Amino acid sequence: MLHVAEVAEPHAGPGQIRIAVRASGVTPADAGLRAGRFGTAVPLPHVPGVDAAGVVDEIGAGVTGVQLGDEVFGMVDLARLGGANAEHAVLAGWAPKPAALSWEQAGGAAANVETATRALDLLGVRDGVTLLIAGAAGGVGTVAIQLATARGATVIGTAGPATQDFVAGLGAEPVVYGEGLADRVGKPDAVLHCAGTVGDLVAIAGSPDRVLTISDLSGEHGVRLTHTAAGPGADPQALHGLAIAAELAGKGAFTVPLAGVFPLEDGRAAHELSETGHAHGKIVLVN
Ligand SMILES: NC(=O)c1ccc[n+]([C@@H]2O[C@H](COP(=O)([O-])OP(=O)(O)OC[C@H]3O[C@@H](n4cnc5c(N)ncnc54)[C@H](OP(=O)(O)O)[C@@H]3O)[C@@H](O)[C@H]2O)c1
Repeated sequence: MLHVAEVAEPHAGPGQIRIAVRASGVTPADAGLRAGRFGTAVPLPHVPGVDAAGVVDEIGAGVTGVQLGDEVFGMVDLARLGGANAEHAVLAGWAPKPAALSWEQAGGAAANVETATRALDLLGVRDGVTLLIAGAAGGVGTVAIQLATARGATVIGTAGPATQDFVAGLGAEPVVYGEGLADRVGKPDAVLHCAGTVGDLVAIAGSPDRVLTISDLSGEHGVRLTHTAAGPGADPQALHGLAIAAELAGKGAFTVPLAGVFPLEDGRAAHELSETGHAHGKIVLVN
C-alpha cells in the first residue's frame, strides 16, 4: 500500500536538521521495503524515501554551521529507513545545495553519492585504477561513474544497448552486458556490482576480492557486500561524499541524470518506474 496521508510533523533531534522538502529521491530499496521483499517490518504509517533537498526550517541541539533558510541536500537517519518523501524531512547528514544542481537533481543526489563514495573507498578507486561498473546506467552507477573519473580512474560501464550513449556521456567506456562480457571488458582492477550477475564479474576480475556488490544479498561467490550505514547522527562517510559531489557540480563535473520526475502525490508511478529495473538515472518526487 502506498498512498498520500497526513502524519505527525517530524522534528529535528540532537545533531539533526529539518527541511521543508522541495524534492526527494526514490530508491529501489523504498519499493522493496514497501513490498515486504526484505522481510523488514517498519512501524506504520511509514514514510518512504531516504534522501531529499530543501530549505532548513528547524535546527537540532548541537548542530553548527547551518542557518534557518539555508538550502541543503542530504540523507535521513537511516535507522528509520525513510521519512524523505514528505513535506518535511529530518536529515542526519547534509551539505549545502550547489547552485549547479536543480532542486530535482539535489533531491535525488545524496543516497547515491553516499553509496558510490562508500563503494569507491572500499574498492580503493583512485588515479590509475580501471573500474568496471555493472549497472552503470542506474541511479548509483551514473553517480559512481562521475565520482570515479573525478578520482582519476578509468571507468568501463555495463548497460543495455539503448543506454550506451547515456553511459558514455557521463565519462565511462560503455559495454553491453550479457553473454561474452568478459571478451569486451579486459581485466579491470576493481569491479562495482550494482546490477546483473555477480558470478560473471568474479570470473572477469580474477578474484572475488576485487569485486564489491551493493545489491547481491545472497552471500554467494565470496564477494564483499556493503550496506548503507544505519544509525543516528550525521554519517561522516556521507558528508565526505556530499561535499565532494557539491564541489564537482560547481565545476561542471558532476550532475544527477533524472530518470523520472513525479509530483509527491504520484509516488505510486515513481515506485512503478523503479520496479521496472530499467530506470536511467535517478527517480525524484517534487513538492
Ligand atoms: N547496499 C547499499 O548501500 C545500496 C545503496 C543503494 C542501492 N543499492 C541497491 O543497488 C542496486 C542498484 O541501485 P540503483 O539505484 O542504481 O538501481 P536502478 O537505478 O533501479 O538501476 C537500474 C539500472 O540497472 C540497469 N540494469 C538492469 N539489468 C542490468 C544488467 N543485467 N546488467 C547491467 N545493468 C543492468 C538498467 O540499465 P539498462 O536499462 O540499460 O538495462 C538500469 O539503468 C539496487 O538493487 C539497490 O537496491 C544498495
